Amino acid sequence: MVKPRRFEHVMRVARLAHDIALANGIDADRAYAAGILHDVARDLPDLELLRLAPPECAIDAAHPLALHGRAGRTLLERWGFTDRVILEAVEDHTTGPRAGNAVSAAVYIADVSEPGRGVNEDIRELAFTDVDAALRRSIGSKVRYLQGRGIEVHPRTLLTFESLGLDP
Ligand SMILES: [Fe+2]
Repeated sequence: MVKPRRFEHVMRVARLAHDIALANGIDADRAYAAGILHDVARDLPDLELLRLAPPECAIDAAHPLALHGRAGRTLLERWGFTDRVILEAVEDHTTGPRAGNAVSAAVYIADVSEPGRGVNEDIRELAFTDVDAALRRSIGSKVRYLQGRGIEVHPRTLLTFESLGLDP
C-alpha cells in the first residue's frame, strides 16, 4: 500500500510506538499493530482519500492529505478490522489522539518523533518517561506554531489540545 521509503518510516514508527508503550505501561502489541497500519492510506490519490473520508471541514476539503488517517480507518474497517483502539489510533494519527486512547498517543508521538524525521528528539526522549507530557509538548507546540502564524488549526487537533488542558 505504501512506497518503499514510507514503509521504512512505518516500521520505525511501529517499533518506536511499541517501545514508548512498553515504557509507559501501555498495550505495546496494539501500539505496534497501529504503528504498522497508521499510514495505510497515506499514498492513495486525493480522489480516493476524499471518497474514503468525506471532508468534515474546510481544511479537509483544501488538503485531502489531512484525511489519510480517517481514510485508513475506513479501509481497515472494510477489510474486517474491528479493534476500536487500533482503529482510533490510525484515524487520529494525523490530527491528534482523542482523550483516553493511550495507544493512540504512543503512535502519534512515534510518528512525529521517529529518528528518520530528524526533528523532535526531545519529544521522543520525554515520551519514554512521560508520554502525556510528550503529547502536551507536541500538540501544544503545533497549535501555538500554527496560531502564531494565523494558520487555521484542524478542529480535531483543537479538540485534542483542549482535552490535554492546554491554554492557547
Ligand atoms: Fe500519516
